[in-house]
Amino acid sequence: MTGTPRPRESSEGEGRAVAAFDTAEVFDADYLYFYAERTGDQRSEAETDLIWQLLDLEPGMEVLDLACGHGRIANRLAARGCRVTGLDATPLFLQRAREDAAARGVSVDYRLGDMRELPWPARFDRVVNWFTAFGYFDDPGNRKVLGETARVLRPGGRFALELNHLPWILRNLQPSTTLERDGDLLIDRSEFDAATNRMHPRRGR
Ligand SMILES: C[S@@+](CC[C@H](N)C(=O)[O-])C[C@H]1O[C@@H](n2cnc3c(N)ncnc32)[C@H](O)[C@@H]1O
Repeated sequence: MTGTPRPRESSEGEGRAVAAFDTAEVFDADYLYFYAERTGDQRSEAETDLIWQLLDLEPGMEVLDLACGHGRIANRLAARGCRVTGLDATPLFLQRAREDAAARGVSVDYRLGDMRELPWPARFDRVVNWFTAFGYFDDPGNRKVLGETARVLRPGGRFALELNHLPWILRNLQPSTTLERDGDLLIDRSEFDAATNRMHPRRGR
């Protein structure tokens, strides 16, 4: 479970017009700044432990970190001996991921790409998608992510997907949430559409 707000999208549900998801609006230097604590060492180590356990990982396994962000999970899995590939749509995050990999002395194949269209055949033993990195598109787009994930997994492979579930969202629903760091504020206003069970956050700074 994470408290990560979903990025803004204008999906109205199956079969209706959907604007392209603007990843650049949400995933930028401000995200790294305000989420530094939530994505810091202690939490990332604990989450890597959990992923290791859930996916029954072993050194040498081929792992894809799908929407890997700045590499906090991918680099840790590589440090534990997995052969890791990380794909993300945000060049800044991949740059940070590569820098962090170099600092840790680990090797990860980082690729810029779109999780709806993966450039590999069935080659991974495991795929992980972590910290609410799913559900950004309309229903056909989200299904494409799942279809592509299934396609790049070897037979018998496993997939771990972590995101907020509906009961948690309903219990914790607030019209806006604020993250503060050193006097700077990041404000997310959220609308919940009960007809589609979708969150529609609007970000303000
Ligand atoms: C909430 S972050 C999670 C990052 C990482 N999994 C973690 O645990 O820190 C969501 C990530 O999804 C990435 N993303 C958004 N749209 C994407 C797309 N179409 N294809 C690949 N990555 C995408 C963003 O760049 C961002 O790094």
